[in-house]
Amino acid sequence: MSQYNFINFIKGKNYYLIEINRPNQLNAINKKTIQELKDCFLNINDSTKGFYGVIITGSGDKSFVAGADISEFKELNEKTANELSLNGHELFNIIENFSIPVIALVNGYALGGGCELALCCHIRVSTKNAKFSQPEINLGTIPGYGGTQRLPQIIGKGRALEMMLTAEMINAETALNYGLVNYVLEDKDAAMKKATQLVDIIQRKAPEAVAGVMESVNNFFKEDEEGFKQEINIFSRLCGTDDFKEGVKAFQEKRCPSFKGK
Ligand code: COA
Repeated sequence: MSQYNFINFIKGKNYYLIEINRPNQLNAINKKTIQELKDCFLNINDSTKGFYGVIITGSGDKSFVAGADISEFKELNEKTANELSLNGHELFNIIENFSIPVIALVNGYALGGGCELALCCHIRVSTKNAKFSQPEINLGTIPGYGGTQRLPQIIGKGRALEMMLTAEMINAETALNYGLVNYVLEDKDAAMKKATQLVDIIQRKAPEAVAGVMESVNNFFKEDEEGFKQEINIFSRLCGTDDFKEGVKAFQEKRCPSFKGK
């Protein structure tokens, strides 16, 4: 059952499965996908009875989500970048503050907004071929969906800075070592089995206590809220620069960017 264009929405026995489905773009999330995900999470929130987790993954075996859809970046200016970033923040905040746990099943590339999507989930399970990176600096900007805040929260400042400054990909083994993922499994089937086992364990707990744990842990980071707001401002400002235009153009022309510092 799916009333969406860019996501598949499936009811499992005690969990919901959301699969981002834009295979030709390696599941990159465009504005419409963000809207569909928002609608989907809001609908789920109205009927969680009998459901104890949401599993979110990407279609196929190659990619979880290869980032925000860069083809939509061509038209960005400071104002529209602000809207885009705010919109992404809203979705990722809905997920982080969701009433039942959300498990990211990372099956391949989790880049940029894909890594940020995994970061706002409560638990991350990955396949052996997963690769993580925050490559926005290659486009002349910064992560705009909460990555500058959640990545250091989860893996620590030093490792997060290195990932964001170099844009280098890390593999699943390193991600496990960093604490970026909780488990690495052989393939998508095995990762799905692990994710559903986690839901089965959580099903046996008191639902109010499950929600309480997530709310209380999220409260630990509440004082960082100003950082999220500042990220939106810095991302938007950078999306108004010539270097950003060059970064996006270079990606589309499949060449290295030549940045000028303005
Ligand atoms: N937005 C839009 N389209 C994307 C995309 C994104 N974030 N990531 C991949 N795609 C598209 C490619 O443009 C390509 O489309 P085309 O066939 O019409 O040219 C298609 O998906 C397949 O990608 P391709 O680059 O050919 O695959 P690859 O295996 O050679 O490389 C990646 C895979 C993920 C390393 C590479 O696609 C990449 O670097 N993507 C961008 C990652 C990124 O910077 N994300 C952060 C954005 S803020």
